[in-house]
Amino acid sequence: MAVAVYPGSFDPVTYGHFDIIGRSSAIMDRLIVAVLNNSSKTPLFSVEERVNMLIDVTKHLPNVEVRSFDGLLVDFVRKNHADVIIRGLRAVTDFEYELQLSQTNRVIAPQVDTIFLTTNLKYSYLSSSIVKEIAMYGGDISAFVHPFIAEKIRAKFAGNQ
Ligand code: PNS
Repeated sequence: MAVAVYPGSFDPVTYGHFDIIGRSSAIMDRLIVAVLNNSSKTPLFSVEERVNMLIDVTKHLPNVEVRSFDGLLVDFVRKNHADVIIRGLRAVTDFEYELQLSQTNRVIAPQVDTIFLTTNLKYSYLSSSIVKEIAMYGGDISAFVHPFIAEKIRAKFAGNQ
């Protein structure tokens, strides 16, 4: 049974993340989407909100579960008896950081490998930060996130949540 962990901040989940989740869940027996609970960053959404949004958009995928984690990613991977980490690569600009992340993880946990999926070209420019910036200025984000997520973002910036 091949178990993978797809980690990230997911603040919030975009169609780019969603594409990687769908494709990796089709390859793996089980996929755990792991939401980083990072106290050094100030996210727009709390970790509980991010987990709940991910649960909602992945509810049609029976082999996907969503959890939060703090501390080292490789510790979470080992605790959950996963085999690999999944990461998406959008463009060459992602490469240096992703290489550093995967190499470091391999040094501290040699049994944990990372598999990279290249992002669907449609979403190669997309990031959570860009989506938040557009939403902050009242722009249309419907091409970037699920309608349910777009509503949550709009409500957040309107101060309703
Ligand atoms: O979506 P992101 O924010 O690019 O995801 C980054 C993430 C969560 C994969 C990375 O920050 C991470 O693994 N953090 C956990 C702490 C850790 O293990 N750090 C050591 C790896 S160099």
